[in-house]
Amino acid sequence: MSADKKKIWQGRFSGQSAQEVDVFNSSISFDHILYKEDITGSIAHARMLGQQGIISAEDVNEIVEGLEGILMDIQTGDLPFDPAAEDIHMFIEAELTQRIGEAGKKLHTGRSRNDQVALDLRLYVKKEASAVISQLKDFEAALIKQAEAHLETIMPGYTHLQIAQPVTFAHHLMAYAQMILRDITRLHEVIAHTDSMPLGNGALAGTTYPLDRQFVADQLGFGQVTANSLDGVSDRDFVIDAVYALSMVMMHLSRLSEEIILWCSQAFHFVELDDAFATGSSIMPQKKNPDVAELVRGKTGRAYGNLQTLLTMMKGIPLAYNKDMQEDKEALFDSMETVKLALSAMTPMIATMTADTKSMRQAASKGFINATDCADYLTKKGMPFREAYGVIGGLVKSCIEKDQTLEDLSLEAYQSFSKLFEEDIFQVIDLKTCVEKRDIEGGPAPKAVSQQIEKLKAELDKLD
Ligand code: ARG
Repeated sequence: MSADKKKIWQGRFSGQSAQEVDVFNSSISFDHILYKEDITGSIAHARMLGQQGIISAEDVNEIVEGLEGILMDIQTGDLPFDPAAEDIHMFIEAELTQRIGEAGKKLHTGRSRNDQVALDLRLYVKKEASAVISQLKDFEAALIKQAEAHLETIMPGYTHLQIAQPVTFAHHLMAYAQMILRDITRLHEVIAHTDSMPLGNGALAGTTYPLDRQFVADQLGFGQVTANSLDGVSDRDFVIDAVYALSMVMMHLSRLSEEIILWCSQAFHFVELDDAFATGSSIMPQKKNPDVAELVRGKTGRAYGNLQTLLTMMKGIPLAYNKDMQEDKEALFDSMETVKLALSAMTPMIATMTADTKSMRQAASKGFINATDCADYLTKKGMPFREAYGVIGGLVKSCIEKDQTLEDLSLEAYQSFSKLFEEDIFQVIDLKTCVEKRDIEGGPAPKAVSQQIEKLKAELDKLD
């Protein structure tokens, strides 16, 4: 739309809007990505208008053909978006009328941009949330594959980033797989919350035309129609739900990223990234940096910022539609793009990283990681746990003073702390035993982790 072209709403005005206002008001630079949803929604609306006898069958045909032509031309690049158009809805309607004339002017019968944009956004959230779910499933597959290869790979488990008790690399990775499973469930819930069709809500107070809302809902794959016209045009809960769910995904990816950054460092050296997923330094020739993980951690802030933007945007606006709500789009699109980008880089990075099982095992033999097992040993021989805890505390203290590990001590040394110690203590403190004995449901024993993996796979299948 060139600046001298009449605006669709020009009728009520004597003067032109200022150019600065046009620029400020316009959303086409970002809402053009809704073109497909807008056209799909308009086609459904036009068909319904025809079915209800509100417009003629010929008009419907012309409108549908016209819209399909516009869709094709946008997709091939033959129809560029006009930066002077107010938004994607105005752009498509104006283009349609230019192409087909009179019939194009009938498309907006019984509709407002307020219910139109609400519809477009709901279609977008449903589609994109499904796309993220499928990316998350690929991410799960990468985690599971690594886990299956490392059921027996012992690594230190930490609390406070202090070596605590031995776990396996599989168990550690599966903790993230559980988080991502919850993310997938959460996104399915978002889709369910988004599944109401708003057309028929009009600008705010419904319409006097005998629209068949359910017909439109059925055509567009919605489970139901929105229940209140004021709410229907001004509800953005589903956008906030989506951006919250995406923030959670980023938070989980960021935690894993932080661990990968640590694991790649010389201090840990638990994993080596494939060259394709690491970067070098412009000055230090020896560097191999985990930039992907760092960028995921860094981009998490954007997702949180978008959530804050939306909550703040909505908190003070009276019913029903207000232009503030145009601000919902960039926040939503940015979160969606950020998560999709992050997953597209992180999934192959996880799939191709190699674990340094030796370093993990070595790290696990430090820090008296089997001290709890030592205390449990005494407890199982009849000593109350608190007392056993005290005895082993003394044992560890003496080891630290003599720069020894629990494995270095002789049976006599053990017995000088408690007569309950026997030859089998050495088997008990073996890290492999420590892990294998933790075969409780949810524990790190290879058997328990295998069961966890099978259960998770079944849950994922159920979520299809
Ligand atoms: N571009 C607008 C938005 O994204 C579309 C709705 C405009 N409605 C209106 N009454 N100005 O919110």
